[in-house]
Amino acid sequence: MKVAYSSLLHRYERLYERALEEGNAGKARFFALQCAGLLRKLASEELQFSHYYLKLAEDWERKAENVEVDVKKRSNGVERLITSSNVTWEDVGGLKEAKKLLAQAVGMTMAKVPGGFKPWKGVLLFGPPGTGKTLLAKALAGSMKATFIGVKVSDVLSKYFGESSKIASSIYALARQKAPSVVFIDEFDALAMKRSSMEDAGRRLLGTILAEMDGFQDSGGVITLASTNAPWDLDEAMLSRFPLRIYVPLPDEEGAREIFAIHLRGLPLRVTLESLARVAVKKLYSGREIANACTFAVLHMLEEMNPELSDPLKVGSIAGKELTIRPLEAKDFRYAFKRVKSPIKRELLKKYERWAREYGV
Ligand SMILES: Nc1ncnc2c1ncn2[C@@H]1O[C@H](COP(=O)(O)OP(=O)(O)O)[C@@H](O)[C@H]1O
Ligand SMILES: [Mg+2]
Repeated sequence: MKVAYSSLLHRYERLYERALEEGNAGKARFFALQCAGLLRKLASEELQFSHYYLKLAEDWERKAENVEVDVKKRSNGVERLITSSNVTWEDVGGLKEAKKLLAQAVGMTMAKVPGGFKPWKGVLLFGPPGTGKTLLAKALAGSMKATFIGVKVSDVLSKYFGESSKIASSIYALARQKAPSVVFIDEFDALAMKRSSMEDAGRRLLGTILAEMDGFQDSGGVITLASTNAPWDLDEAMLSRFPLRIYVPLPDEEGAREIFAIHLRGLPLRVTLESLARVAVKKLYSGREIANACTFAVLHMLEEMNPELSDPLKVGSIAGKELTIRPLEAKDFRYAFKRVKSPIKRELLKKYERWAREYGV
C-alpha cells in the first residue's frame, strides 16, 4: 500500500476510535466512511489487491452503520466507574476543616456562580496513609447529587493496560456529559513518580488526565479530586492543576475520639472514648489504625466470652449462633493497642507538615 494512503488510513482509524470514545456517533460514522472511501480508491488503483481492499472497505461501511451501538458499548465500559456510595459525612471522624473545604469546592462547581468567577478544577487531598482520604471522597459521593466517577490508578493501569489514556478521555467525556461531576483519582501518587522513571502507560495516562483538565476554559461542571500519600512527588506541572490542596492529617484527640465513636457504634463500653483517644494520638494512629484497634479489642472480648471461637475443633459448629458479649474494657484495648502499630514516624509526620505549610491551603 502506498505510504501516504496507509498513514492517512491510520489517522482516520484513530479519529474514528477517538470519536467512539467521546461518544460522538456522527463523527465516528464520518471517519469510518472516510476509511471505506480510501480503501475503495485503493481497490481501483491497485488492481491485484482490489479484492482485499474492497473487503476492508465493506468492513468499514458496516462499522459506519453500527456506530450507535458501538458508542453505547464503549460508554458502558467507563460508566461502570460511576460510583454510588452510602458513606455519609457522619462516618468520617474529625477532619472538620477538610470536610468544609471539600464541600465548598465541589459546591461551587455544581452551583451557578455569578460573573466571571471560575471555581476550582482540581482539588488534591494529601496526608499520611489511612487518614481518611478515600473515605472523604466516598462521603462526598454519598452526600451530593453530582455524578461521581471513581478511578483507582492501579486498576486503570492493570486492567486497561496500554489503553489507559483512552480510558482517561472516555472518563472525562462521560463526566462532561453527566455534569456536574466529580472525577476522583485515588492513589494519584502511582502516577506522580518522577516522570522519566514511569512506565509508558502511566505517562500517557497522566498526560491525558492533565490535558483533559486543561482542555476547557471553564470547568464545565467537572471537578477532579485526587488523593496522594506522597505529595512531594508531584512536580510543578501537576501541582499547578491542583490549586486547592487540602491536608488530611492524623487525628488530634478530638478527631480520634470521634473516630473511636464511629467504629465502636452500638457496642457497650466500660472505658471512656477520651482515654482511648489519648493513647491513639500518642501512638500516632491514623483512622485506619484506630479502626483496626477497635476490631482487635472486640475480638479479644469475644474470644474470652466464647472460648469455642479459638478451638479449631469446635469453630465449625458456631456458624449462625449468637455470640455472647460483654462491655469492652480497658484490658481489651490494652491488648489491641499492643498489636496495632502505626507505620508513621515522627520524622515523616514533620515532612507532611512542612509540605502542608509550603503548598497546602
Ligand atoms: N477520619 C476517619 N473517620 C473514620 N474512619 C476512618 C477515618 N480515617 C480512616 N478511617 C478508617 O480507615 C480506613 C482507611 O481509610 P482511607 O480513607 O482508605 O485512608 P487513606 O485513603 O487516607 O489512605 C477507612 O475505611 C476507615 O475504616
Ligand atoms: Mg486511600
